[in-house]
Amino acid sequence: MASGIHPYYASDGASAVHYDLVTAADRSLDGDVDLYAGLIPSGGSVLELGAGTGRIAIPLAERGFTVTGLDIAASMLAQADARHAALPFETAARLRFVRGDMRSLALGTRFDIVIASFFTLAHVQPSAAWKQVFAGVARHLKPGGRFAAHLPISEKLASVAPPSGSLLFQTGTADGGRLALQLVEQSHNAKTGRFDLTLDYVTTAASGAELARSRERYTLFDGDPLPFAERAGLRAVGAAIPLGTSGAIHLFEKPNG
Ligand SMILES: C[S@@+](CC[C@H](N)C(=O)[O-])C[C@H]1O[C@@H](n2cnc3c(N)ncnc32)[C@H](O)[C@@H]1O
Repeated sequence: MASGIHPYYASDGASAVHYDLVTAADRSLDGDVDLYAGLIPSGGSVLELGAGTGRIAIPLAERGFTVTGLDIAASMLAQADARHAALPFETAARLRFVRGDMRSLALGTRFDIVIASFFTLAHVQPSAAWKQVFAGVARHLKPGGRFAAHLPISEKLASVAPPSGSLLFQTGTADGGRLALQLVEQSHNAKTGRFDLTLDYVTTAASGAELARSRERYTLFDGDPLPFAERAGLRAVGAAIPLGTSGAIHLFEKPNG
């Protein structure tokens, strides 16, 4: 960490450790599990790209779906694995987490649906990387299978972003202290669609004394998924479904036969 800024989800950073606490308070994600569950045939199979700590994968397995959660970050998967180990046997048996890169999918099996929730696809660039992701998704879908990708609407992200120095979020921690997220700076390049947020994760003790501060960089890319989907042989299903104030779920289908 030469620059003093951790990449998001780094093993020695705070964003992975506090991921569940922060997303539990993020109202822009309300209803996403129900929405994905409604897209899957009864008892169907799911591949989640960027499954993280299992926020989506675990409730889907609890609802009777068979779920593979893939993620690149060891820090996120360690939490997913710990939650997996605590599940009842029957639910746990329907679920597996694997470490991997969504740009080079090679799982040797096909799914009813592939999900990329909470801006996961936007973590890589809408260029060669999206081409690789969409090609891999198409290879891993059954005929008639679907791909649901929750992507940011970057103009909205930029327009709702508060000024530098703002407190974005704070909540109590299990030990009686507090976790606060402060915006250090942000930038949005409308030409490349790149959106960067530098955030401080600050934890304080019940006494108010600062315990730790971790500076982290969160980068998202904006792009139109349709040309990438079409090149991979997928077709769009309906209009994108809005979720929260700054994102929408894009749905694609692999034609039958
Ligand atoms: C915003 S989190 C979403 C986690 C989970 N899907 C959710 O909705 O809570 C994005 C996840 O994508 C993962 N990720 C980023 N790039 C990836 C890649 N190239 N391949 C696989 N996972 C990746 C990150 O490690 C992180 O866990």
